Amino acid sequence: MVTQKPRIVIIGAGMAGLTVANKLYKSGVKKGAFELCVVEGGNRIGGRINTSEFGGDRIEMGATWIHGIEGSPIHKIAQEINSLESEQPWECMDGFLDDPITIAENGYVLHPSLVDPISNLFNNLMNFAQGKKKSIGDGIGIDKCGNGDSSVGSFLKKGLESYWKLESRKETEDVFGCGDWNRKSLEEAIFAMHENTQRTYTAANDLHNLDYLAESEYVMFPGEEITIAKGYSSIIESLASVLPPGVVQLNKKVDTIEWQPECVMGIMGNKHDGNSRAVKIHFLDGTSMSADHVVVTVSLGVLKAGIFNHNNDSGMFKFKPPLPNYKIEAISRLGYGVVNKLFLKLSPDLNLGIDRFPFLQMVFHESDHQVKNSKIPWWIRRTASLSPIYEKSNVLLSWFAGEEALKLESLPDEVILDEVSTTISSFFSHKESNASVKFDKVLKSQWGSDPLFMGSYSYIATGSSIADMDTVAEPLPNTSVFESTSGSPQLQILFAGEATHRTHYSTTHGAYLSGIREANRLLQHYHCIDI
Ligand SMILES: Cc1cc2nc3c(=O)[nH]c(=O)nc-3n(C[C@H](O)[C@H](O)[C@H](O)COP(=O)(O)OP(=O)(O)OC[C@H]3O[C@@H](n4cnc5c(N)ncnc54)[C@H](O)[C@@H]3O)c2cc1C
Ligand SMILES: *[C@@H]1O[C@H](CO)[C@@H](O)[C@H](O)[C@H]1NC(C)=O
Ligand SMILES: *[C@@H]1O[C@H](CO)[C@@H](O)[C@H](O)[C@H]1NC(C)=O
Ligand SMILES: *[C@@H]1O[C@H](CO)[C@@H](O)[C@H](O)[C@H]1NC(C)=O
Ligand SMILES: *[C@@H]1O[C@H](CO)[C@@H](O)[C@H](O)[C@H]1NC(C)=O
Repeated sequence: MVTQKPRIVIIGAGMAGLTVANKLYKSGVKKGAFELCVVEGGNRIGGRINTSEFGGDRIEMGATWIHGIEGSPIHKIAQEINSLESEQPWECMDGFLDDPITIAENGYVLHPSLVDPISNLFNNLMNFAQGKKKSIGDGIGIDKCGNGDSSVGSFLKKGLESYWKLESRKETEDVFGCGDWNRKSLEEAIFAMHENTQRTYTAANDLHNLDYLAESEYVMFPGEEITIAKGYSSIIESLASVLPPGVVQLNKKVDTIEWQPECVMGIMGNKHDGNSRAVKIHFLDGTSMSADHVVVTVSLGVLKAGIFNHNNDSGMFKFKPPLPNYKIEAISRLGYGVVNKLFLKLSPDLNLGIDRFPFLQMVFHESDHQVKNSKIPWWIRRTASLSPIYEKSNVLLSWFAGEEALKLESLPDEVILDEVSTTISSFFSHKESNASVKFDKVLKSQWGSDPLFMGSYSYIATGSSIADMDTVAEPLPNTSVFESTSGSPQLQILFAGEATHRTHYSTTHGAYLSGIREANRLLQHYHCIDI
């Protein structure tokens, strides 16, 4: 019998998949230990990393920040390949948080003495929830035991109410002369602006769906948060550069993964072609490929859609037989949401009364019912900010989350240009002057409707926990069941990707670390049998 090398097929050429490939290639394939192949459904590598260009500037459509540089493996690679400097301008967001201008709907510029106490309150509440602070401060007490629904949303609501009780504000007080705003409604709207930023950080459409306990279990790397001058894709290219041509195959969309949960009399796979590999991958183009190990790195959204489409021939990413129930339940419980970026290029004929566009924080009434003849559509009402991607850039950026992010994907560019121009102009218009802010170009990401992503990143929804991420990460077949029966090939399906990392989910470094974890799992497996 001809001995065949074990064949490992990685599904997805994003951060997780390419990290697995890079590690396995360097530590195993080069020594001739196994065959390796990466299949990617899209026409490019990178997945949720997609560095692009807009208005002459380098921008990121997906992953943007290195969230804390100290100890970050992504930062380490960026340094090694000299990606942190560039001659060409990029989305560096300098001065991002310095001197924001906060303007309320109808053009009232809000003084920091009004905004700052609410911003501080919000930050203190989040720092407390994330375990970075032992108390919220200023005598604000929240009875956590009485917190029946343990979501971040309900915690924040209680925090604001407790603040008001302490300040004993009068609801009807109107000391500002800000038209239809009074102090309480303004404070509420400033607080909501911060909640909306939090929605874009977490991808939770509703913070009442975001688990409170999980906030303190999430781990952030310390240090500065920075963007990558040569683009996030430079990290991806560096990981892929060790792989010889042909290892990564593009435009291969996986339809079904056929696996062997039980040992069938010692005969695995298709006996007619003498193929003894346990797993068979069927692609949408009708071709198939056999493997001993498959590393699945598709997004949690793709896994959810596969489960949902289980009985639908046209839906992608099904397992045959289906995933075990405990795994289906964990995937279903976990949260996965949509976040999109909107880039706008300012027209040269800017008429703002100031020489360049500021870091603008926007305070909206919650719904347009509160405003007569509002020209501001609902999908803009929860946008927290609009700011240049670097100090003197003509390219402005806003982040969208949840329903608004999905709506944005469906709108034609002309509608977006028109409605955003109207909204932003109204923010700079006062009784004395009519401002006009015009944009002549727009670029938006569309992660929610793309069948290869189905959204942006994962979060711990209420009713789930990080234990569910561990469950998603467990390889199949489940060794606790099959150890005794033996004979069934081990590690047929492994899982990596952002949503399988219990403390760094939702990030590029989470995806990277999950890839290292699964590569090591396979390397260890083979060292045991001493190849
Ligand atoms: C708008 C946005 C902003 C973000 N900002 C940040 C940030 O600032 N910092 C940060 O750290 N992270 C950020 N992230 C998250 C980060 O991008 C992801 O966590 C990370 O890139 C995920 O990598 P992955 O390998 O797990 O998944 P992916 O990148 O999704 O890789 C999976 C791959 O599988 C492929 N695939 C899917 N279905 C199939 C199929 N049926 N057959 C074959 N292939 C398939 C996909 O095309 C994809 O290439 C952001 C994400 C988005 C969308
Ligand atoms: C990547 O960005 C480009 C814009 O430069 C866009 O055309 C393309 O659709 C993006 N890909 C994905 C998967 O978002
Ligand atoms: C099957 O899935 C496709 C694509 O996701 C969808 O358009 C179609 O309506 C689904 N059909 C059924 C019967 O659910
Ligand atoms: C601003 O626009 C309104 C309506 O178009 C107009 O009535 C008003 O005179 C304008 N004000 C100034 C200062 O141009
Ligand atoms: C394995 O399967 C059992 C029973 O099906 C399940 O309870 C368990 O959570 C699974 N995972 C592990 C690691 O045992």
